[in-house]
Amino acid sequence: MRKSGTSSTRKNDRLAMIFQNLALALLFAAFAGPAIADGGDVAYATKTIAIYTDSGKQAKAVGKVLVAAKLTIMETIPGWSRVEIRGWHQEGAERVLYALPGKRIMSAVLSSPAVERLRPLDVVTDPDTQIIWKGAAFEGWIMDGNITSELGDIWRAAWDLFATRCTVCHQRRIPHKYTANQWVSLLKVMGPRTGLPKDDQRLILTYLQNHAKDTIKSVPVEKP
Ligand code: HEC
Repeated sequence: MRKSGTSSTRKNDRLAMIFQNLALALLFAAFAGPAIADGGDVAYATKTIAIYTDSGKQAKAVGKVLVAAKLTIMETIPGWSRVEIRGWHQEGAERVLYALPGKRIMSAVLSSPAVERLRPLDVVTDPDTQIIWKGAAFEGWIMDGNITSELGDIWRAAWDLFATRCTVCHQRRIPHKYTANQWVSLLKVMGPRTGLPKDDQRLILTYLQNHAKDTIKSVPVEKP
């Protein structure tokens, strides 16, 4: 662990503490995070968060990042982080980025101006549907808070909701009995039946999609 230097005033002490905490958090993320991509620290959105093209008071949101979406933190300044999000979209439907090609696990929804800033990556063809999926990266700014380096924390929260709220009318269903895309249609019906806020329904959906028949092996999963 790193020790902070001494500072002369209380204000400096507080600043030093903030930076020390930040450094510790980054250090922790670097060691505890499941993977380091491109030298940045990996984090996951703990709820739906806005993404901006700039930092600061005048910044305008150009999209949203959805719960459990994987972000790479490129730069951190007080109050803000510059992040990269990678995903897959269909040709002509660039506004929605999915976590995996052909699996409709939504990672981000972008506005049209944001789409112009997408950086193209790999292109793959889904062998089942012959649909072409294009990989792309988006870089933007998010405000502090609402991210974690621990994907397991998100899955635990999701599991709690799933195990308590989705068992009111029937037995607990088995996540890997359905595919990631089947869960989308199921949650359209079952989600509202829970009476939970939209964000919580989405959290359950993302959890189930990431533990589904066709994703359980391809996604870095931490069981609750
Ligand atoms: C208010 C009652 C209620 C709640 C709450 C509820 N369900 Fe259901 N669920 C049902 C009923 C009733 C059925 C039987 C099929 C139907 O009528 O749609 C069902 C069927 C299902 C099925 C089987 C569908 C099929 O075609 O085989 C799944 C999977 C499922 N629910 C998942 C969930 C999940 C996940 C949640 C939580 C997000 C949930 N349910 C919450 C009432 C509920």
